[in-house]
Amino acid sequence: MRVLSGIQPTGSLHIGNYLGMMKPMISYMETSELFVFIVNLHALTSVTDSKKLSVGTLEAAADFMALGLDPDRCYFWVQSDVPEVVELSWILTCITPMGLLERCHSYKDKISKGISPNHGLFAYPVLMAADILLYQSNLVPVGRDQQQHIEVTRDIALKFNHIFGETFVIPEGEISDDVATVPGIDGQKMSKSYDNTIEIFLDEKTLKKKVMSIKTDSTPVDQPKDPQNCNLYQVYRHFAPKERVAEVLRLYEEGGAAYGAIKKELVGILWDYFSDHRQERERLVKDPGHVRAVLANGAEKARAIAVKTMEDVRRKVGVLY
Ligand code: ADP
Ligand code: TRP
Repeated sequence: MRVLSGIQPTGSLHIGNYLGMMKPMISYMETSELFVFIVNLHALTSVTDSKKLSVGTLEAAADFMALGLDPDRCYFWVQSDVPEVVELSWILTCITPMGLLERCHSYKDKISKGISPNHGLFAYPVLMAADILLYQSNLVPVGRDQQQHIEVTRDIALKFNHIFGETFVIPEGEISDDVATVPGIDGQKMSKSYDNTIEIFLDEKTLKKKVMSIKTDSTPVDQPKDPQNCNLYQVYRHFAPKERVAEVLRLYEEGGAAYGAIKKELVGILWDYFSDHRQERERLVKDPGHVRAVLANGAEKARAIAVKTMEDVRRKVGVLY
């Protein structure tokens, strides 16, 4: 089974990205044919600072490798290093109904936040469909916010297969309900765009500052509290040892949970959780030549598959003559 997902290099990766996408992807290395890539062409829809994009791309790659992705056991590359994806995107664009894209929440959300609606932002889901279909992916693990884009991909693939004959595998999305939306320090979805993130690789002082500022309510310590709606608990439960999570859950339900003490404990837990990864990341950041070589090798492997799909697609649509 082919499992594929991508991540944008638009800023430092945070624990929402880690739980929602990176961790599940890394675990698929054991069981599946895994495709992981850094979607720098998607990032162009919102980033015009070239340095930020190029540095962010290398950093995202280093993050993934430091967190345990082994490039020898998967396909790991940068989106733009396989240019066939842009050609496929155009071909798919030509059969994509306007209405399908006009309905997309993420486009409407971004506009409502005042982001100027360039054409790339509108066409974003088609490029994502090309990413998925080019590699004939079966399963696409993403956070809940990307679910609609998977549905758009399926619609486009079905339409292509209907018009031109069986060509693409119809992919399934996979959204883990357990981590569907990890809250940020202000309680909204943790996201680079909301400035409410806890990055995976922070120095200890900044980590402490961020965790201590997680928004909690003013219920007194001895009163029962609702763990499901507590931003602190919703982060804590993913990183603390199981038995400790059970104890803290009991304190929430019966009274006795002290937010300040739990926050302090969470700082230590997060620091230790990523400690080995932090060291590995420092090593990789000092050796960008190695990271580039890994990505070049990954692109070559991925491209071999992309070229095969495109031979078939070109013939089917009639641009081969
Ligand atoms: P951001 O919202 O910070 O810009 P992205 O949209 O680049 O993050 O998301 C990259 C991946 O991480 C996607 O698969 C997305 O669904 C997942 N993800 C992002 N934020 C969260 C979150 N708060 N909880 C769970 N998954 C998340
Ligand atoms: N749109 C996805 C996000 O913002 C990133 C992405 C691009 C992606 N292409 C993809 C995810 C293909 C899965 C499969 O998170």
